[in-house]
Amino acid sequence: MAKEPVRVLVTGAAGQIGYALVPMIARGIMLGTDQPVILHMLDIPPAAEALNGVKMELVDAAFPLLKGVVATTDVVEACTGVSVAVMVGGFPRKEGMERKDVMSKNVSIYKSQAAALEKHAAANCKVLVVANPANTNALILKEFAPSIPEKNITCLTRLDHNRALGQISERLNVQVSDVKNVIIWGNHSSTQYPDVTHATVKTPAGDKPVRELVADDAWLNTEFITTVQQRGAAIIKARKFSSALSAASSACDHIRDWVLGTPEGTWVSMGVYSDGSYNVPAGLIYSFPVTSKNGEWSIVQGLSIDEFSRKKLDLTAQELSEEKELAYSCLT
Ligand code: NAD
Ligand code: LMR
Repeated sequence: MAKEPVRVLVTGAAGQIGYALVPMIARGIMLGTDQPVILHMLDIPPAAEALNGVKMELVDAAFPLLKGVVATTDVVEACTGVSVAVMVGGFPRKEGMERKDVMSKNVSIYKSQAAALEKHAAANCKVLVVANPANTNALILKEFAPSIPEKNITCLTRLDHNRALGQISERLNVQVSDVKNVIIWGNHSSTQYPDVTHATVKTPAGDKPVRELVADDAWLNTEFITTVQQRGAAIIKARKFSSALSAASSACDHIRDWVLGTPEGTWVSMGVYSDGSYNVPAGLIYSFPVTSKNGEWSIVQGLSIDEFSRKKLDLTAQELSEEKELAYSCLT
């Protein structure tokens, strides 16, 4: 029997990421190729005409899974009945800025949209915040939507996770699909810690640790980390716009693995509400290694953290605590 359509909200849908993301959702890349969807696209009035153009293109593409499109500048209409909300709306940083430099513009958007989601979305709506500063926007959304379960509010660090897989695959000249279990700890910012301590590569002789195959700790502990940390800035420098197709694709990966489950023996990175695991302060949205089953993620427990990693986990937690304070000061 055909499944009932799922309503998926994309905010900022007339923007760059939105334009890459909505056709992926309509093709089943996010929720599965047997899952019909109704797209809810929100943008602000100056972008209304462009948003309508995106709607026209969605109709023209005749996606078999797409059962309806709501294109609106009304946040209540956009949020009504949605089971998945991908929050992309906001302002991207430009060359020379850190992601927290867009804080004052973006956190107030997340405060006001929290209320609309809380009142009008489906009770168990899963929320993914993409707009920067992603972790702190998600935290603000969580705090101003207290009736949404805290486990349902997440932010995107899967792009950083995928970037780390890509770097290892290039370095070792192996298929990216054979590399697994990198971890992005902390903030989606230049203090994030891309960690390969537990990462492996599939070889004909079984899974081998990335550290053994790369055999160059100096590269893994410096250049690899900074390349992943700075990749967003490198894309902005090259394109003059921030990453869009990789962000959209990673957003689909994030929701797909959350809803449909992570493959056996594999974890992914998600920004989630910290419960104090790995001595990360509770009450921050922090990126952890997670697995997911039956639509519920859990933090992978018991991984060893050496002294080098500990310092990096703490540094990015410190930045998130400072961002939290700054966000509140922007809201008052
Ligand atoms: P963009 O400027 O092309 O698009 C953003 C869209 O949001 C615009 O159409 C704008 O009109 C809309 N918008 C602004 N305020 C809004 C509001 N209150 N409600 C609804 N829509 C609103 O930007 P983009 O390149 O698509 O990037 C979007 C965001 O995603 C930025 O904050 C960017 O920094 C962030 N980003 C995050 C990641 C990540 O990995 N977490 C990756 C790439 C980009
Ligand atoms: C990215 O990582 O590409 C995005 O967060 C955009 C940015 O500002 O770096």
